[in-house]
Amino acid sequence: MTTTQPAPTGDDAAYLEGFDATIERGDRIEPRDWMPEGYRKTLVRQVAQHAHSEIIGMQPEGNWLTRAPSLRRKAILLAKVQDEAGHGLYLYSACETLGVSRDELTEMLIDGRQKYSSIFNYPTLSYADVGTIGWLVDGAAICNQVPLCRTSFGPYGRAMIRICKEESFHQRQGYELLMTMMRGTDEQRAMVQESVNRFWWPALMMFGPPDADSPNTAQSMAWGIKRNTNDDLRQRFVDMTVPQAKALGVTLPDPDLRWNEERGAHDFTQPDWDEFMQVVKGNGPCNTQRIAHRRKAWEDGAWVREAAMAYAAKSSAVAEGQEGAA
Ligand SMILES: [Fe+2]
Ligand SMILES: [Fe+2]
Repeated sequence: MTTTQPAPTGDDAAYLEGFDATIERGDRIEPRDWMPEGYRKTLVRQVAQHAHSEIIGMQPEGNWLTRAPSLRRKAILLAKVQDEAGHGLYLYSACETLGVSRDELTEMLIDGRQKYSSIFNYPTLSYADVGTIGWLVDGAAICNQVPLCRTSFGPYGRAMIRICKEESFHQRQGYELLMTMMRGTDEQRAMVQESVNRFWWPALMMFGPPDADSPNTAQSMAWGIKRNTNDDLRQRFVDMTVPQAKALGVTLPDPDLRWNEERGAHDFTQPDWDEFMQVVKGNGPCNTQRIAHRRKAWEDGAWVREAAMAYAAKSSAVAEGQEGAA
């Protein structure tokens, strides 16, 4: 069948109408559908940033793999860190359907043109941090990611469904580790509290700047990419975490954190947004180390990629030769 329809170029009005109607109905946009260039660019930025966060996020916890306190803890942590690698790979694949290659994405990460979550620029100083990251960081990730299962771009939404199932295991293993430590010695309880004190504020920053300083949120919500604002998600996270902290017996390091009867939500102190901006700009405690590590892994793996490409070229040449002979 031939089609007389012209190839879509630019923001053609008829295509835009179809696109808007799809979003309006709550249906998914798929890779071969026409989409506004701004939508494509926003998604590439967001999905790439998400993929990079999964991959860079392996480092702070990977730091403790060889020092896990027991075989059981090591098995749990290893499974969790491997899950994060899988998340990165699904998300790079989703991003590739938007017309950008994984090689390009990795290069944009290591030369600083694309970002990853600010949280992974903080160090892991004790084994309690493994628990705190699972509880607070994966907990915050769940708040962010559950609504993304309904995001308007098909490959991203479908990747998120599987990722969210694994994130809830991550959150639980962290909580269970902290609960075990809280039932231990005074020294273990102090380790947990010290870790929570360090990670509470960076965890609040994971939702991004306050809505008033988040200029892209409105457009992302209109396109159905984002489903909730940063402040809504942060509030949801605080409300979810307070009773869990109580059950654990840890104190969240915010003296002004309290239930507001009128709002039906907790009031809490905002994190230090100047610190957030510094970390985003590359001046956090571990930015240089994280990127240097990723760059080295990328360079060390070059021969594997070259060998795989050579093998693929050779295999397809052999297949073509067989076809020609038949
Ligand atoms: Fe993940
Ligand atoms: Fe996770």
